[in-house]
Amino acid sequence: MILLNPGPVNVSARVRQALLRDDICHREEEFSSLLRDIQSKLIQAFAHDQDYLAVVISCSGTAAVEAAISSAVAPGTKVLVIKNGVYGERMAEIARAYRLGRFELASDWTQPPPLDQIEMALNDDPSIQVIAMVHHETTTGLRNPVEAVGELAHRYEKVFLVDAVSAIAGEPIDLEASHIDILAGTAGKCIQGFPGVSFLLVRDAFMETMRTYPKRSVFLHLPSYCREDDVPSVPFTPSVQIHYAFHEALVELLDEGVDQRIDRYHRVSRYLRERFRGLALQCLVPEEHGSNTITAVWLPAPLTYVELHDQLKAKGFVIYAGQGALHSKIFRVANMGALTQSDFEGFIGALEQVCQNTGVET
Ligand SMILES: Cc1ncc(COP(=O)(O)O)c(C=O)c1O
Repeated sequence: MILLNPGPVNVSARVRQALLRDDICHREEEFSSLLRDIQSKLIQAFAHDQDYLAVVISCSGTAAVEAAISSAVAPGTKVLVIKNGVYGERMAEIARAYRLGRFELASDWTQPPPLDQIEMALNDDPSIQVIAMVHHETTTGLRNPVEAVGELAHRYEKVFLVDAVSAIAGEPIDLEASHIDILAGTAGKCIQGFPGVSFLLVRDAFMETMRTYPKRSVFLHLPSYCREDDVPSVPFTPSVQIHYAFHEALVELLDEGVDQRIDRYHRVSRYLRERFRGLALQCLVPEEHGSNTITAVWLPAPLTYVELHDQLKAKGFVIYAGQGALHSKIFRVANMGALTQSDFEGFIGALEQVCQNTGVET
């Protein structure tokens, strides 16, 4: 089955094979060494030996974002949450669940957030200490302006927290240049590993700052994952085999090259959009804001999502539904994972057939 949903993704044979390595105990040197290697590859791939450390947690992307938010907000201060899609809304939900002080800035789901309103909020409320934003809103395939918001965070001396769960290894990210203090990512999307392990890249100095904040969660308290003696270890039982596959996926990513991976995704997403336009299908997000890995398309009459999904699945392709208010209005096609150009050509052929068979005007 070809997975055109934004994770879990199709993985390569070498990543799948890595699941079959030896059974090991997570309290032994073998696991410490695996973890050390994963952490150093994450830094090599995404932080270019700048002053960041990598925390790896056996959890889904949401939990990694929750670890970041619940650990990063100092008592008596607020987090400004930028919401222009389901995952921005989820960050606000997390802040609410932890009863954190917050300022929620909602904006149009098909456009980048208004920078002037962000700046106004920072001017109006000096108790805002953290700005939280999603890099790539998977809801719509919109790429948010991380550099510009990071510049504001820097100018106003705020902590910048980024959910890059669906962006990392799919969009260019320069942590230092974008003034990112804490970033959440996951193995099972553009890194092309399996779901079940996620990570955070945290500025060294900010990890020390977070140690002074109250512990709000047992499992998701980030400083608990960094021993002061620097020995790589995990406080709770990790998904060992998923870590093996994550490690292999990182080796594979570095073999391909992070820039080359991003470029491959970019080219495929542009190919798909061109072919969608050729079928008279309309994309939701203006091209200049479109990400490299998700295309959201208005459902063409008379097709319903269920008909489109089921007919494509019968031909071997899994697409993805819209979320929230877009639920029955759009379909989404992700181009993450170990897929080839001929997989995408096969998908376009199948989509053409479904459109013809169901009377969609193309
Ligand atoms: C931007 C973003 N953040 C968070 C998540 C949540 O990840 P998970 O479903 O692994 O909890 C997703 C999942 O698609 C996502 O795209």
